This record gives sequence, C-alpha cells and structure tokens, in this order.
Amino acid sequence: MVQPRESFGSRLGFIMAAVGSAVGLGNMWRFSYLTAENGGAAFVLLYIGFTLLIGLPVLLAELALGRGAQRSPIAALVHYGGSGWGWRGAMFVACGFLSLSYYSVIAGWTIRYAVESLTLGFPSDPEAHFAAISTGGAAIAWHLVFMLVSVTIVLVGVHKGIERVALVLMPLLFVVVCGIAIYAATLDGAGAGYTYYLTADFSGMFSFSVVSDAASQAFFSLSLGMGAMLTYASYLSEEHHLPDESLVIAMTDFAVAFIAGLAVFPLIFALGLSEAVGESTVGALFITLPKAFSEMGPAGSVLAPVFFMALAVAALTSAISLLEVVVAAAIDSLGWTRTRAALVGGAVITALGVGPALDLRVLDWMDKIAGNLLLVAGGLALAVFVGWVMQSPMGEVARGAEGVRWLFLWRWLLRVPVPLVLAAVLYASIAALF
Ligand code: TRP
Repeated sequence: MVQPRESFGSRLGFIMAAVGSAVGLGNMWRFSYLTAENGGAAFVLLYIGFTLLIGLPVLLAELALGRGAQRSPIAALVHYGGSGWGWRGAMFVACGFLSLSYYSVIAGWTIRYAVESLTLGFPSDPEAHFAAISTGGAAIAWHLVFMLVSVTIVLVGVHKGIERVALVLMPLLFVVVCGIAIYAATLDGAGAGYTYYLTADFSGMFSFSVVSDAASQAFFSLSLGMGAMLTYASYLSEEHHLPDESLVIAMTDFAVAFIAGLAVFPLIFALGLSEAVGESTVGALFITLPKAFSEMGPAGSVLAPVFFMALAVAALTSAISLLEVVVAAAIDSLGWTRTRAALVGGAVITALGVGPALDLRVLDWMDKIAGNLLLVAGGLALAVFVGWVMQSPMGEVARGAEGVRWLFLWRWLLRVPVPLVLAAVLYASIAALF
C-alpha cells in the first residue's frame, strides 16, 4: 500500500490540469446564458466579485488542504480534523459519483454531435434529432464511450495521463474558443449578439436570486466544493506558490467563460435565432447552435465539428478530475491500486449514468442536487474546516509563497463572510427546489 505518492511533473502541468477541471460545460454555456438573462455586464461584475471574494478563498483552501495533507478528501479531512470528519470527505466522494454519472451523459451527446457533424452533416430538424438521441440506448452508448476515454486517462496516472492530456488539450481549446469568437465578430448582425449578452442592467443586482446565481456559478465553474481541486493539490510539492496559482486558475476560467459568450451569442444573433436563447436548458446548446451552424453554409460545416469537439474536450478534462476524486479516495482509503480503483469506480459511475441517460428529468434532478446543493454545502464545510479547524492553514500556504501579506485576509474571509454567503446561497437553492 505504501507506494510513493504520484505527482505533477511541472507547474504548468498542474495549472493546465486544474484549469481543465474548471473549464467545462459550465463555461461553454451556463455562464453565457446566466449573464444574458441576469443583467449582462452587471452580472459579469457580480460574477467577478464572487469569484474573487468567494471562489478564490475556497480554491486556495482546497489547495492548502490537499497539498498539506498529501492525501485525497476523506483522508485529508481526517488528517487535520480527526476521524469525526471522515463522513464529510465521504460526501465529497459520493458527490463525485453522482456528478460524473450525469455529466458524462451530456458529454456523450457532445462527442456524438462532433462525430455526426463531421460525417453525416446536419439533421434537418435539430429539435427532433436531439429528442431522439438524448435519451435511451443511444445516449447510454455514447455515455459509455465517454466513460471509457475518461477511465483510460485516469488509469494511466496523474503525470502521464491527466497532466499530459491537459497540457495538449487546454491550449488547443483556448485557441479554438478564441478563433470562433473572432470569426463570429466578422458576421453581419454580430452586434445584436453582443448587445444581448452584455447590455448592463443593474436592477437585478438587488435581487436575491440573481445574486445567488452569480455566487453559485462562480463556485460551480471553479470546480469547488467536492474536493476535486483538493485532490489535484495532493499531488503538489512545497515549491508551488499556491496563491499565485489559484489566481491564474480563476482568471483563466473566467476568461474562457467570457470569451465563449463572445463566440456563442453573435453566432446565434447573426442568424436570427434569438428567440431560441430564452430556453436556458442544456438542450439549447444542442438545438439552437446546430440550427445556427446549419444555416451558415460551408463555414458551418467546419465550425460545427470544431465547436462540439471543443465542448467534448472541456467536458473530458472536467470529468477526469471528478473521476480522480473517486479513484484517489479508493487508493488512499482502501489501499487499492490505481488500475483497480479506476476500473471499479468507472464501472459504478457508468452504471449510475443509465438513470439520467434514460430520463432527462432524472438528469435535471441530479444536476440540481449535486450542482446546487451538494457543492455549495461542501464549500461551506471546506471554508469552516480550513477557517476554524485546520491547524495553521496560513503556514501551509506560506510554504513556497513567502512574503504574501494578505493571507490573514484570506483566513478571515474563510471564517466569516464566505460561510455566511454560502449559507445564504444554500438557503436560496433549497428554497428554489421546493
Ligand atoms: N467546473 C465544471 C464546469 O464548469 C463543472 C464542475 C463543477 C466540476 N464541479 C466540479 C468539474 C468538480 C470537476 C469537479 O463545467
């Protein structure tokens, strides 16, 4: 059982892996429609505020906890807090199972769309096509394909699998998203898209639901609240400058979300499909955009596979971090080998995914429970843990980051404002559920 712990090979490798976890389906669609619906530029400001005041402190807390303990969530909480905290870590792992099982179903659609738009061209009726492929045997098959790819990468290991894949795919994703945004800017009618996306409306800033949407999106987008960042950080050594690295991760995540919005809205508006943006479901991504691509002619048949590949890549690098939470827990707490943990964990998650693959209501429900409730509750627990329970968190962060003066501010944020805000967001999402 006592094998030496795996580690990331380079600073950039870790940053790319963490950015890979953060940049996912949440950036590519969720951020832009939330922005468009909730006050445009005003929402972006709120979002930046929450990223800095809530997201960044909790991200740094996860990194400190993981690197300090050199263990995955369950063992890390027990290490610093005693065995009474083990169940909290176990909830992170449970959240990993739950989240990946439906995330992978959606990711399966993206791969299918990428392959089909390359080989078969566009369906004449995107709506009917989506209804036909989003559930049932076809959805299960592509979910299985996606899980096989994820399990293979995680099975190879942290350095040779996760890190290498992120080092290749993340820069590529960034270039593709920027490329599409630049192309979209050249289309007639793009201006209406920018207007829709970014026109500032400050009235929402006083609405509890808009504010809590901004906070929970900032949180979701940074992959916080279930020990994913914690697990990646458990593979870091003490040379890492955690405050700088958390800033880079948070800024890159924001940049990709923002630029994805600059790509998506001009495309939709240039083609006069704006009525369809109102439906804020994940379905809009798979119905409205294919319509836009198919009306675009030849440019569309290049853009469509590229866009859906980018989505699949974004989903893949997030999925492997979810899977790694489960795998690392089995390695650290059960003494399993990586191979066994990846195969068994992957099989259980694949089986769990059959539920959401058969019924979109199940998928929606899992997204609400995991995405809204469990992540926010997990973040609250992490903030309290690092703020009040963990011994000397500032000392841990200061290793490799001597002379950072604002660490006391970080700890204070974790102790009081972050738990208060997250408790309010949790209350809002529970209220919204019933
Ligand atoms: N951040 C991912 C996205 O933007 C989704 C996500 C939320 C996630 N929590 C996570 C990914 C935990 C990995 C681990 O789509």
